[in-house]
Formats: sequence, C-alpha cells, structure tokens
Amino acid sequence: MKTIIEPFRIKVVEPIRMTTSTEREEILQRAHLNVFAIDSQDVLIDLLTDSGTGAMSSEQWAGIMRGDESYAGSPSFYRFRDRIREMSGFENVLPTHQGRASERILFELYGAAGLIVPNNAHFDTTRANVEHSGAQALDLGIPEAADATNRHPFKGNMNVEALRALIDKVGPEKIPLVMVTVTNNMGGGQPVSLTNLRQVRSVCDQHRIELYLDACRFAENAYLIKQREPGQQDRPVREIVREMFDLSDGATISAKKDGLVNIGGVLMIRNPDRFTEACNLLILTEGYVTYGGLAGRDLEAMAQGFEEVLHEDYLAYRIRTTEYVAERLIEGGVPILEPPGGHAIYIDAGRFCPHIPPEQFPGQAVVCGLYRLGGVRAVEIGSVMFGGVGNKPPALELVRLAMPRRVYTQSHMDYVVEVACELYAGRDALRGIRIVEAPPALRHFTAKFEEI
Ligand code: F0G
Repeated sequence: MKTIIEPFRIKVVEPIRMTTSTEREEILQRAHLNVFAIDSQDVLIDLLTDSGTGAMSSEQWAGIMRGDESYAGSPSFYRFRDRIREMSGFENVLPTHQGRASERILFELYGAAGLIVPNNAHFDTTRANVEHSGAQALDLGIPEAADATNRHPFKGNMNVEALRALIDKVGPEKIPLVMVTVTNNMGGGQPVSLTNLRQVRSVCDQHRIELYLDACRFAENAYLIKQREPGQQDRPVREIVREMFDLSDGATISAKKDGLVNIGGVLMIRNPDRFTEACNLLILTEGYVTYGGLAGRDLEAMAQGFEEVLHEDYLAYRIRTTEYVAERLIEGGVPILEPPGGHAIYIDAGRFCPHIPPEQFPGQAVVCGLYRLGGVRAVEIGSVMFGGVGNKPPALELVRLAMPRRVYTQSHMDYVVEVACELYAGRDALRGIRIVEAPPALRHFTAKFEEI
C-alpha cells in the first residue's frame, strides 16, 4: 500500500514563527507555566485543541461569499438544514453558535434537581451544563478505559451493565436522558461501537428513556467503526453515520470539530414538543431559529463542512495521521494511551515521568517541556484539570496533542514526534510543579504555576 497522503493542495499559507529557546523560557515564565496564557504567535505547532482550529476548503470559502444574511428564512439556513437532515435523518434541526449552546438548551429542557444524566464520559462543558440545571452528571465508562495500555478497540463504550444497575437503583423517572459522547474526548478520543450503541438503545427502550448523542466527532467515530468493528468494513461511512443517528432521539454537535468550521453548532431533537420548546429557548439567547447566533455565511460553511467530513479519503488521511504519530511515538518509547483514537494523541504522563507524583502534576511538567523544547503547545488532562478541592483524582495523568483538521502536514507531525521523543530521552530532568494561584473552578485555564 502507498503512503496515505493529505488529500488536498494548499492555496493559502499562514507563516508560523520559530522562537529561540531563550525566548521560549521567558515566554513560559511570563505565562506562569500555563500555556493558555501564551500568545498563539509565540507557538510553533499549536495542538491545544482540534476545536475551531481547522482549515476550510475552497468550497467552504465560496459558501462564505454566498452567505445570505437575511434575518429570517435565508437560503443559507435551508442549505444547512437540508444537509443535516440528509446526513442524520433528523427533521428538527437548529443552528447554534457552538456545542455548549446546544447543551445549555438541551439541559434547560431536560435537567432539574434530583435527576441524573449518565454519559460514557461527559465533556467538561456538558458536565457543567448538566450541573447548572441542578441534575447530577455521571460517567459510566467501561473499566478497560482506565487502563492506558489496554488495546480494546472501543474504549469509548458505555458500561451497559452499570447503566442497567443505575436505572434499577434510582428508577427510570430519575433519568431524563442517557447521553453517549462519540468519540469520548475525556477518555482519549476513543470510539463507541455500533454494538454498544444498540445495547444502550435497547436499555433506553426498555425503560422509555431518551438517548442523545454528543456527536462532535461523529464522522471520526463512524470511520473507526468501519475500521475496527467486525462486519462494518464494507459499509460506506455515510451509512454508519446514519445508523448512529437513527439509534438516537437527538444530538448536540459542536461543528468546530467534524463540521470542519471555525464556529458553529447544531441541536437535533426528534420529539416535536421538546423541539418547539428548544426553538423558544434558542430565540431567547441565541437568535431566530433560522440563524441561531450565527451569520448566514457560517451556515453555508457548515453545510459544506458536514459534506466534506464524510469523504472517505479525508477520513482515511485524518485517522491515519493520528495513528502514524502514535506509531512513531511508541517506537521512540513515549508512553501513550493505546490504541490511538480519532482527534488526538494522549501522552501518558504518569508513565512518562514516574518520578513526579500526581500532586506535582506530571502532565503539566510534560506540557511545559514540549513548549520549552520545541514550541509545541499541548494541554494537560489530569490532576490540574480535574484535581481541584473536593474532586477525586483522575485515573490517568494525560497530555493531549489535539490535531487541528487539514492544518499541519506530515513533516509538522514528524517534528512534533522528534520533540516528544527528545523530551522523553531527557525526562529525568523534568521537575514537579506546584500551583501558586488558582480560581475555585475550571482552574486549568487561569492557574499560575511554578517548578519545584
Ligand atoms: N462535547 C465534546 C465531546 C467536546 O469535545 C466539546 C469541545 C464540546 C462538547 C463543547 O463544544 O467548544 O463548541 O462549545 N471540546 C473542545 C476541546 C473545546 O478542546 O476538546 P464547544
């Protein structure tokens, strides 16, 4: 088989700037060792997130010019709506400005004190919106997901037994909906199998509970199903995507991921009464139902993005990139979460620097090391992000290298691998980190650190 290449040519380029090691040291100190406080101009390869950081295609830019900015009934809205309908089978579709806006509306409708929302792994904004409604957010992942070296192909699966046990214990009336996140971002970008989704559906049916998808990375999940799930190899990704949506009663999507746009979101709701209520809530804070807080041009870009993301040569390149980086890191001895998922590589910082205990934030030490050595920006997903007062420490200390879509080439990725391998070779020099100042919630964004 030949090399899987980037299935695009580059029409517009954006220079990136190399800094010296002395400059980076100063920048890092000025940022109090928190990479969120570093200006993007001072970053060489930015792997902070895959959200809203992708490159749009020439057809998407053409859509930007075509955008009709009428307040109501714009043809751009109908193009967007029809694309989502055709892809998902959902009739009731609303645009929102991003994923969390869809979540806010959904949980304002479904959440309340005393209720419990199970998910394979809540993303932090989803959890925050569930909790803001008064409900409790509960993660029901499978045990294999907590073991970074277990090569289970669908570590994103929901623990169906635990779901059944929860329903038996609290009663179905306490569970307004079950949510499944595809792929699961907090647990390593791992996919959920169709078999698992069907099982969750059947449990929900038995108890008349609605099933929602957090479908930010639905196309990557579908492609991983095609690659990994027995019997799915010959099915078009579009068909797998359709089955995933057919199994659910609704979905929230941040189009900043698999929508291949820089801003935008979607909310789909099958139940017509709930949909009407969602329309009213949308109008309250986002805007009228045919633009949902976006410009007409944004809707055009989304309509095209949701088409392009299903092209199988794109998905082959996308998933192969992550897999390629994973293979090279493993060759270099760097411990990562295996198997690699869709949108990111997760370095296992606990094994990367075993001399640094969790309370001295090994993940943050690796994040600082990557920036110092090569100007690469990653993000800690471990005790800094989840460890605050009253929280139980996370199972894994991870560092996420998230891959923006269609932005970096193979040589950029080779460079990232070299930096990570060099850092690993010199890992004994990495020092533990302490927090100097931190807010009470979501501390990773603004905390200040120093080295011990
Ligand atoms: N759900 C998942 C699984 C996500 O990964 C995100 C965002 C959201 C919901 C919220 O979407 O940002 O458009 O409001 N994840 C980004 C990340 C921020 O870096 O992983 P949003």
